[in-house]
Amino acid sequence: MNILVINGPNINMLGQREPGHYGDISFYELEDLIRDEAAKQGIEVDFFQSNSEGAIVDCIQQAGSYDGIILNAGAYTHTSIAIRDALLSIKAKFIEVHLSNVFAREPFRHHSYLSDIAVGVIAGFREDSYLMALNYFANGVWQ
Ligand code: DQA
Repeated sequence: MNILVINGPNINMLGQREPGHYGDISFYELEDLIRDEAAKQGIEVDFFQSNSEGAIVDCIQQAGSYDGIILNAGAYTHTSIAIRDALLSIKAKFIEVHLSNVFAREPFRHHSYLSDIAVGVIAGFREDSYLMALNYFANGVWQ
């Protein structure tokens, strides 16, 4: 099984950015945690991060052959019809993840252009949000 983890804008600033919302671990520590968990589960995992909406769209368009995508689109979650359309154009299923509990934050974070087309949404468990998504795909129950 191969899984692609896509992180959007400002997720590369983890560790320096609003630790009250996003925790203390760095972006590279986050990737290492996911990589270690994937290895334990025998899953191949690739990573992509960009601050640019178009680059994320390009990445999604080429990701159709993955068994699953774990996507934290950052602020684009709340704004991007282009990312939604790209996700609708490929076969691979995705789980929307957020480090913070977006529903406990500003009202503009309560709406997502992605949630209704996701397998599911995991928000508020910091880095564990990604590990939960990985485990969900590993168990194969979404198929
Ligand atoms: C986020 C939540 C978004 O609202 C925010 O814009 C982010 C990070 C999260 O992981 O909690 O950049 O996606």
